[in-house]
Order: sequence, then structure tokens, then C-alpha cells
Amino acid sequence: MRSILITGGGGFIGSNFILYFLQKYPHYRLINVDSLTYAGDLENLQGVEHYENYIFIKGDICDKDFIENIFTHYAIDFVIHFAAQSHVDNSIKNPSAFIETNINGTFNLLHTAYLSWFETPNKPKKDKEHCIFHHISTDEVFGSLGESGYFSESTPYAPNSPYSASKASSDMLVRSYHHTYGLKTFITNCSNNYGPKQHDEKLIPTIIRNALAGKGIPIYGDGHNIRDWLFVEDHCRAIDAVFHSCYFGESFNIGGNCERTNLEIATQICSILDSTAPKANGESYQNQITFVQDRAGHDRRYAIDSSKIQKMLGWKPEENFESGLEKTLKWYFQKYKV
Ligand SMILES: NC(=O)c1ccc[n+]([C@@H]2O[C@H](COP(=O)([O-])OP(=O)(O)OC[C@H]3O[C@@H](n4cnc5c(N)ncnc54)[C@H](O)[C@@H]3O)[C@@H](O)[C@H]2O)c1
Repeated sequence: MRSILITGGGGFIGSNFILYFLQKYPHYRLINVDSLTYAGDLENLQGVEHYENYIFIKGDICDKDFIENIFTHYAIDFVIHFAAQSHVDNSIKNPSAFIETNINGTFNLLHTAYLSWFETPNKPKKDKEHCIFHHISTDEVFGSLGESGYFSESTPYAPNSPYSASKASSDMLVRSYHHTYGLKTFITNCSNNYGPKQHDEKLIPTIIRNALAGKGIPIYGDGHNIRDWLFVEDHCRAIDAVFHSCYFGESFNIGGNCERTNLEIATQICSILDSTAPKANGESYQNQITFVQDRAGHDRRYAIDSSKIQKMLGWKPEENFESGLEKTLKWYFQKYKV
């Protein structure tokens, strides 16, 4: 049985991915390593107890001895690396945690993988030729777009926040381990995800939670910052398609072709809540929308050209924004006990 080290599997995307992957591929053993920061929660992994091929180990990807032990003890064949500090606002307040986990942590994983899988550069150990390192990254590495255009795989990197700069740096390290040492790598750069299990601090959970609590729904600046939204399970399917491909050393952009302003997102959620959980006083939730001081260095627009993964691997999103949002709201209704 091949062993996959999943990092950050207690977080939003990692936990959705683990449940998706366990169901689909019983022949892999998944070793989930997560330090359970404020963003990680084992509650996100309810259901994994049914799987004998799943193991959770609490630990930090920056801890060299710990990661070496994991590689040796579990004979790791593949890495799918989700663990990161992921919230832009936090990276503005406390950038050092982002440098530590996103850059040094990724380096530690890459170098341990290299030492564990290779004799010397470009000479894999016997029976380790199949090993793969898949790095999960973001479209934010490309910076900000004007009113037109899309990020493609050849768009130059121009990260603007400490978060995106740390992710861009980690992408560069992954690239270098392919080119210098011959590691079989993939990088996937995905747009904004939404769906069940996303941490409360992120935009869509904040809108839902504050709306239902009768609080102000905070929207940065003029609310016209645009993101390209993708339902988390579609991201999981895209990772699956890339991971099982043979395009080593390549990167793939993943997006939902679903551009929305933050204000449109808030308005749409409020209007769904108006019909599914109407307020006793008959007022619309939209009256709670409150514009707050803009985030420092706030990127204006992200939009992804995902034609490469569509053409080369036949992936495309299965959810549209309406169906994805319905599933998301259903999950948060349960969480917030509506
Ligand atoms: N959420 C998005 O919209 C989005 C979009 C594109 C790419 N990504 C990328 O996908 C990955 C996962 O994002 P997410 O939204 O699930 O993040 P998340 O913040 O929900 O989860 C991150 C997980 O990593 C763990 N972690 C953090 N530091 C760690 C460390 N030093 N050692 C071990 N574990 C650690 C946390 O405990 C948490 O469980 C990240 O690499 C992120 O950059 C996210």
C-alpha cells in the first residue's frame, strides 16, 4: 500500500480532500500531519474513523526531526502539501508565522523528501522512482488584475501581501527541487475556495454568521474587490486529476470561472437568508451590510484562466455558484444551529 503524507489535513481544504480521497481510493494509506493551529480542527474529519488506512499525527512541518521520522517510519511515497498560514489579514498583523510555516515548513518537507527519495541529484533510490511532491498553492501569487485579463500559468509572479509572497516563495522552492534535484513535483494555483468547514474568519462564513447573529456584515472598502470562487470539492477533484497525471514539474491554474465582487457575495447570501431564515421583523439581512476600512494593500481583482487543466486533464468545475452556495449554507446552518 502506498503512503501519502497529507499536511494540514485538519484545515478547510485538507479535511475536505482527505474525506474525498479516502472514499475514492481505498488503496492509499493517508498520514495526516497537522499541528492544529487555531485553523485546524479534528471535528472537520468526522467520518475518518471508519477508515483503517487513515492515521492522524499532531506535529509541525517546520520540525526537521519530526518530519524525518514520519518519512522513515511510514515510508512516505507521496506528499500532498496543504499546511499553511492562510489568512491574508493575519499575514498583515503577524507576517513572521507565514515565513516560518509557508516558506521554512515547505523547505523542510521538500528537503526531507529529497533525502528520503534520492541518492544524489536526479538519481532516485531504488523503488523510489514513483515518489511525488504535490504543492497546493494560490492564485494570489500572481498579484492583482485590472478590469480585464486572466492569470495563466505563464503570468509573472507579483505577490502583494506577506501571505502571497510566502506562498510565491514556497512555489519557487518547489520549482527548484524539480529542476535541481529531479523531484517529481506539481504545483496547483487555485482561486478562492468556499464550502463546508471553512474557518469562521474567512469572508463567506463571516457573512453568514454575522447575518444570523444580527450583527454588522463587514465589507472592505467599496466592496468591489473581485475574486474567482470555486467550490472546495471541485478543487479536490482538480488536485486528484493533477496528482494522478504525469506532468511532473508543471504548474496548473484552477479556477471556478465565477467572478464575484465581495458585495455581490454578501448581497446574494443575504437574499438567500431572507427567504430561508426570514427575520421576525421582516427586514432584509442586506441592511446589516457595513462598509469598513479597506485591507492594507488589498488586491483588486483575481481571475483564473484554467484552460490548461481543462484541456490537458479534462477537469472542469461541477458546481455552479448557486448549487455550491446552497450546500455551503446548509452546512453553516447546522454549525450555527439555525
Ligand atoms: N482557502 C482558499 O481559498 C485557498 C485557495 C487557494 C489555495 N489555498 C491553499 O490551500 C492550502 C490549505 O488552505 P486552507 O484554506 O485549507 O487553510 P486552513 O487555514 O483552513 O488550514 C491550514 C491547516 O494547516 C495547519 N497548519 C498550519 N501551520 C502548520 C504547521 N506549521 N505544521 C503543521 N500544520 C500546520 C493548520 O492547523 C490547518 O489545519 C494552503 O496552502 C492555502 O495557501 C487556499
